Amino acid sequence: MDVLLGLQWGDEGKGKIVDVLAPQYEVVARFQGGPNAGHTLEFDGIKHVLHQIPSGIFRSQILNIIGNGVVLDPIILKKEIEGLGKFSIDYQKNLVVSKKATIIIPTHKLLDAAYEQSKGDKKIGSTLKGIGPTYQDKIGRSALRIGDILSPDFREKYQVLVDKHKTTLSFYSFPVDKLEEMEGQFFEAVEFVKSLNLIDSEYVVNDALASHKKILAEGAQGSLLDVDFGSYPFVTSSTTMTAGACTGLGVAPSKIGEVFGIFKAYCTRVGSGPFPTELFDATGEAMRKEGNEFGSTTGRPRRCGWLDLPALKYSIMINGVTQLFMMKADVLNIFDEIKVCTDYVLPTGEKIDRLSFEITDLDVKPVYKPMKGWHCSLADVRSYDEFPTELKEYVAFLEEELKVPIKLVSVGPDRVQTILR
Ligand code: GDP
Ligand code: IMO
Ligand code: MG
Repeated sequence: MDVLLGLQWGDEGKGKIVDVLAPQYEVVARFQGGPNAGHTLEFDGIKHVLHQIPSGIFRSQILNIIGNGVVLDPIILKKEIEGLGKFSIDYQKNLVVSKKATIIIPTHKLLDAAYEQSKGDKKIGSTLKGIGPTYQDKIGRSALRIGDILSPDFREKYQVLVDKHKTTLSFYSFPVDKLEEMEGQFFEAVEFVKSLNLIDSEYVVNDALASHKKILAEGAQGSLLDVDFGSYPFVTSSTTMTAGACTGLGVAPSKIGEVFGIFKAYCTRVGSGPFPTELFDATGEAMRKEGNEFGSTTGRPRRCGWLDLPALKYSIMINGVTQLFMMKADVLNIFDEIKVCTDYVLPTGEKIDRLSFEITDLDVKPVYKPMKGWHCSLADVRSYDEFPTELKEYVAFLEEELKVPIKLVSVGPDRVQTILR
């Protein structure tokens, strides 16, 4: 099983690359996260954003698995499937859902909003999809799972959880007047989910591996949002790194093959939390405009900045990345000079290239290596040989620093704007 994951703060372009690589695989599986993800695919002049459905769904020969590690919102899943109506996808054949995936219920979304509101200016900047509260219930051993919807006493189990949530919501004085309407949608969507192929996905995954089928595990979010290794508490609530693919699908670590680490040629972040190379000036604004850096799930403007090598090295280390894929190189076309952060300077004056525990609270100053921009369009470039010299130099410098080969460079959102090296 190969794993593909984001090495930064999400939105690196995972959806595009899963779609590009999918023909080499028989199975594509999501292993964590939920509708907080927004994975964009572009082909034949159409753009699609997937939230919970794996990005192999447009290839009819591929089995797409929503794994046990995922938190699933039935309402959003129903809408997503309805939204793909025109593609005549055979959901019975091409999509399966783990019975062990955890269900996001309406009160999880209210709790997400209540917790964020109570944090004031310390808020995480959550997508408000109920991710944190749902994982909290999973770890707290009180959550509902997809297999539970088949049980005759699902409504009673649901009510027990809702009553518990209502106590917390009243503690936060959070209004629940929308709940009834949300519940109507929820139970309708639950009936719809019952019509899907609900399975013990760990058997399907391991049977596929035993018969030498190729599986691609599709990460959501990014390593710097990982609940253990990200910039805690400004993180998501799941294990976004390679190890998460093992627990989120039921695959042994020894079965992991390639680990594809995706990064943008610069950095973005949506939501709160530290971002050492963030640009607050016209350069950052130009990056946001050129890269169309607005959230695929929430539409929020993404914070932008130069590439951060200490952070990237950290992500490569914790994930065991074997191949790097650099995305959105074309966004840097507009700059005369491109900067890459090689180290941080601490308030004490010490220079470091590591992410220590304290770094979240420290005001670190990035040390930049300036590089010459290429200043030309990459829209029609289709091979590495056609790259401008300055872009070749950028790639070579990063490979030397990161000690992992950059095997793919993306020069535009479309499937065809993908250069393999
Ligand atoms: P994901 O969450 O990692 O799948 O990434 P998103 O879909 O949230 O955000 C990536 C955005 O960049 C999407 O709008 C993509 O269509 C777009 N994109 C992907 N690769 C490229 C690229 O090489 N160049 C440009 N300009 N846009 C890209
Ligand atoms: P994809 O898969 C970018 C961010 C949120 C917030 C923090 C916690 O498209 O790369 P949560 O809703 O999980 O409680 O939010 O994580 N976040 C993402 N940022 N891309 C994502 O997914 C994200 N999913 C969550 O903005 O800062
Ligand atoms: Mg995204």
